[in-house]
Amino acid sequence: MVNNGIVIFISGRGSNLNAIINAVNDGVIKYPIAAVVSDRYCEGVEISRRYKLNTLIIDHKKFKSKLSFEKELIKKIKPLNPNLIVLAGFMQILSISFIREFKSKIINIHPSLLPSFKGLNTHAQAKEAGVLIHGCTIHFVNEEIDGGKIIAQGATSISKKFSESEIEKKILNIEHLLYPKVIAKLLDKEININEHNIILCYD
Ligand code: GRF
Repeated sequence: MVNNGIVIFISGRGSNLNAIINAVNDGVIKYPIAAVVSDRYCEGVEISRRYKLNTLIIDHKKFKSKLSFEKELIKKIKPLNPNLIVLAGFMQILSISFIREFKSKIINIHPSLLPSFKGLNTHAQAKEAGVLIHGCTIHFVNEEIDGGKIIAQGATSISKKFSESEIEKKILNIEHLLYPKVIAKLLDKEININEHNIILCYD
């Protein structure tokens, strides 16, 4: 079966989606976007439609259980045979059986330097902890939340003086540079995942 490119999962604003679309259009990512899948109607859906991408809303609220929601996801995605499934602000925790369906093909971006600050509100957590360096992590998705193998990290300096939204802006800028680069390199098989060979630092 032919691999059909990237499937991107979203739930919200879609700024990482936008950065990935730009990288595909600029030829940095050499594989097409096979589909954008959202678990709800959101800004990212509008972006995807604007670029006339195959946009699927699979509304999680319409399903009785996670199992039936994921069954529908699998039904829609399996025939696309994606090279990579890219989570970009997707607000669902995927079950182990879903992850196994697409073994080693699902990646996520998390707005902290893992293993610090897992879960939600990572910028508030970083502020509270008083860390001076903060960032984002791209990792493979496994059964442990924000716990899969780290592929790449981007870092920047912060201080207590920064508001959460200032921190978010700084980190998002890094996410938008790092995620497309990592996706391109993974697809081109230029990343040896046994080495952390992409690290970006900004100030
Ligand atoms: C990003 O901060 C990403 O790290 C996290 O969710 C946010 C998604 O933002 N997983 P956007 O929808 O890509 O703008």
